[in-house]
Order: sequence, then C-alpha cells, then structure tokens
Amino acid sequence: MGVAINRSQINQANKEEIDLITSQFNALTAENDMKWMYLHPKQDEFNFEQADKLVELAAENDMFVVGHTLVWHSQLAPWVFKTAEGDTIDDAELTNRLKNHISTIVGKYKGKIEGWDVVNEALAEDGSYRKSAFFKIGGEGFIENAFRFAHEADPEAELYYNDYNLINADKRDGAIRIVKNLKSKGIKIDGVGVQAHWSLNEPSIEEIETAIEMYAATGVKVMFTELDITVLPSPWEKSTADISTRFENSPTMNPYPESLPDSVQTQLANRYADIFELFNKHSDKISRVTFWGLHDGLSWKNNFPIRGRTDYTLLFDRNMKPKKAYLAVIQTV
Ligand code: XIL
Repeated sequence: MGVAINRSQINQANKEEIDLITSQFNALTAENDMKWMYLHPKQDEFNFEQADKLVELAAENDMFVVGHTLVWHSQLAPWVFKTAEGDTIDDAELTNRLKNHISTIVGKYKGKIEGWDVVNEALAEDGSYRKSAFFKIGGEGFIENAFRFAHEADPEAELYYNDYNLINADKRDGAIRIVKNLKSKGIKIDGVGVQAHWSLNEPSIEEIETAIEMYAATGVKVMFTELDITVLPSPWEKSTADISTRFENSPTMNPYPESLPDSVQTQLANRYADIFELFNKHSDKISRVTFWGLHDGLSWKNNFPIRGRTDYTLLFDRNMKPKKAYLAVIQTV
C-alpha cells in the first residue's frame, strides 16, 4: 500500500504527516519531484536533492520506492526536443537523450528505486498512440527504447507502463498492445499501472474487474498507482449530461465548501469498500495500490480539473483523521 508525497513531506516539515505515512503505508511515490523538469532541468544538469531525500526516508522505514516517471510529455524540461540552434531534434538524437536521461537516473538509484513508471501516458483515448513530441519524433520506438535503457541500467528493477483511463476498453486495449509488443521483442515489462483517478460512479466495478483480468492474462502485474476518488462533478464522467455544461459553474463550483456531508462520506466509504473488495478478490494479480496523496488537504483534486474546489478524495481528512472510507478499506483486508 503506497502513497504519493510532495516536497513538504519529503522534507519532513510536519512530523504528524511523516508518522501517518510510515505507519499506514509501505511504498512511496514522489507526486512531482522525480519528474523530468525537476530531476533533469537542463541537458547537462541533474538535480537529485529531493529524490535522494525521498529514497532515504523510504530506506529508513523499509518502504518500496516507485520512480515516477522517466518519460512523460508533461512536466518536462524545455530543452528536451531542441538542438542548440533551436531546431527540433531527430530520432537518433532523441534516442541519445533518452539513453542519457534514463541510464543516469535509473543507474544512480540502482537497487534503491525498485520499480519505475518508465513511460507515462503514451496513449490517446481511442487506444492509438498519443501524438506527443516523443511519438512524433521517435514513433513507438521511443517506448521500446525507454524500457530497454531502464532495464540495462538496473536489470533487477521492475518496469511499468502507467496511464489514466486504462479501464476504458479502447485505451485498455492500447495498453495491452504495448505490453504484447514489448514482450514480443524480448523487452522486459513487469506491470501496468492504472492511475485510478476515479469518481463515485465511474468506472464500474465490472469494468475494473474485466481490465484486471485482461492485463493479468498478458503476464504482467496490475497496480493501481494514483488512486483517488473525487466526490465532485467531473467533466469526464460519461454520465455527465451535456459536455457544454460540464464546466458551467467553474471556477467556483464547490458543493461542499465547509465539510463533506455525512451522506457523501458514506457514499465514498461504500465506493472504496467495493473497490477494495474487488482488489482483494484479485490479490494474486495486483501487486500494489498507491493513493495519490496522504490526506484530503494535499489532494491535487482540490485544483484539478477546476482550480480552487474543495475535494475529499482520500482516506484521511484535512486534520489527518481517518475517514469512514479508511475504516471501510481496512475492513476489507
Ligand atoms: C499531478 C500532481 O498530483 C500535481 O501536483 C501536479 O501539479 C500535476 O501532476 N497523472 C500523473 C501524475 O501521472 O504525475 C499527475 O500528478 C496526475 C496525473
């Protein structure tokens, strides 16, 4: 059971937070600090300060560390696709840069970071490849290269493909295609990371179960890597009526500004219980569940997809007290 932590937890600013982290979880992900823009801000400059601290915190407490993430189109550094002259790099240069980036980082944390989100969010919703700069320059080869370089740098590390909406059939099949493609070329991939930024209603338990079974059938582990459940209207819900009205009340759409009504607390608890009952049923296929944040006050969902809303996505409230949802999860295990 893992948790994503941010800079203030990495720097151990609040002892209560650290106690909660180390008493409740045994895996850590950096919510931001291991992304390209932070670890490798300039071509000849790496910055490992925060990552080192996270790895140390994990080692002191015997926690598994997930490296998030090596190759992603977002939170990237501006130099990555440009030559010194300002032109766009070619495929060969992209390969060089990926190799340098991945070998340096994975090599540095060899034996310490035990699992890597090697490639994050390379798929479009229809299951085709996302038309990111990585893809436009490198084709699907950038994915193969990334996994190869990661494996060369630390042969023992587990290597994952990570994405959101991986329960939806089209995107799920895209991820399965990636796994099968890598395996057919003899390239190591150990797991599919389903981000799991979910809502009270979607995806359904049946859809999640189908996806777990289909991923496991390809011979990889399944993990739920960024679990949180929004209780607020989500513009992406299939059940949300008309797309033009989805952001109608933004940016102040805030149905529960003070606290979460008891009825919604219960709904959230029931939703978490259903999800964890399913996870337990398939515990032979699922290797990890990581929550995307320690408590409601730290959830990125307070600002996404609409800034300034108050959301209640996690197991602990803003005072770090366990919610009904926490008890519901604990009761399933
Ligand atoms: C999010 C963080 O939670 C935010 O703090 C940051 O501003 C943006 O990124 N998919 C991912 C995560 O793989 O890295 C993202 O994390 C959420 C979506």
